[in-house]
Amino acid sequence: MKISIIGCGRVGTTTAYTLMLKGLAREIVLVDVDEDKAKGEELDLLHGTAELPNVRISSGDFSLISHSDLVIITAGIPRKPGETRLQLAEKNIDIIRGIAEKVLHYAPGALILVVSNPVDIMTYVTQRVIGNEKKVIGLGNVLDQLRFRSLLGKELNIHPQNINAMIIGEHGDSMVILENTITINGLPLSQYKTLDQGVLKEILHNTRYGGAQVIAFKGGTYYSVAIAICQVLEAIIFDTNEILPVSIVQQFEGKEVPYSLPTIIGSTGVIRTIDINLTTTQKGELANSVSAIYSMIKELGI
Ligand code: 2OP
Repeated sequence: MKISIIGCGRVGTTTAYTLMLKGLAREIVLVDVDEDKAKGEELDLLHGTAELPNVRISSGDFSLISHSDLVIITAGIPRKPGETRLQLAEKNIDIIRGIAEKVLHYAPGALILVVSNPVDIMTYVTQRVIGNEKKVIGLGNVLDQLRFRSLLGKELNIHPQNINAMIIGEHGDSMVILENTITINGLPLSQYKTLDQGVLKEILHNTRYGGAQVIAFKGGTYYSVAIAICQVLEAIIFDTNEILPVSIVQQFEGKEVPYSLPTIIGSTGVIRTIDINLTTTQKGELANSVSAIYSMIKELGI
């Protein structure tokens, strides 16, 4: 696989590093508006390759991304503490649109994973340029779900790989955490162990606001983001048909909106979304979440 990463900030470079450690790419290309920064990152990563699975690494302008199998868009201005998603979106729309146009020009066959925030909006902007909803995938709630499982695993002292749970909707404060989907090695949580309601409430809170908490403490999130990115990449690279809550532009009550639902991912990108039965409360929460994204799209005039 040839994987190009657009944006050599903390998320882009941590992703490159994680891809190298996991041996997921045959070739990695780094592109950044600051070409010196990209060169520095390229060399720093290159210098460790002698002890890693074989990988070619390069950096430079967009022409290098041609024939990429996958392009990961991480560029953009990161969210500052206290900044709203709308303010952030206003700053990033033109940047992401320009990148999507270049990707379409140089790597028209590539699958695109959008990571830049607000990710649902940036997925929408990218999809509008690329025009193929099966090939444009937003990271969506993959990171939120990873966070939730990891926090539950810590609390229960069980490997989070044995813990499953679904999150859908916006990658943002209105995300819908489907509490009734928590299973431990296939058993509903209630059958395995009664988790104190207060503790569960705290875990739900720390999942919903986990990104903001890390940003408040250290100014950005990137290790967990890179792992979430690799979850999606592994599904594509190994054609696993894994179900992941990625953000895609899809119909919601007659409107085209980018949001996350459990989606089967394989080597061609999106295979299909899974139809799930929601409770009346969950349906209402999802409608609120999707409408929060839709209002932002309208307000931004995109
Ligand atoms: C996160 O949730 C900020 O979207 C980023 O970590």
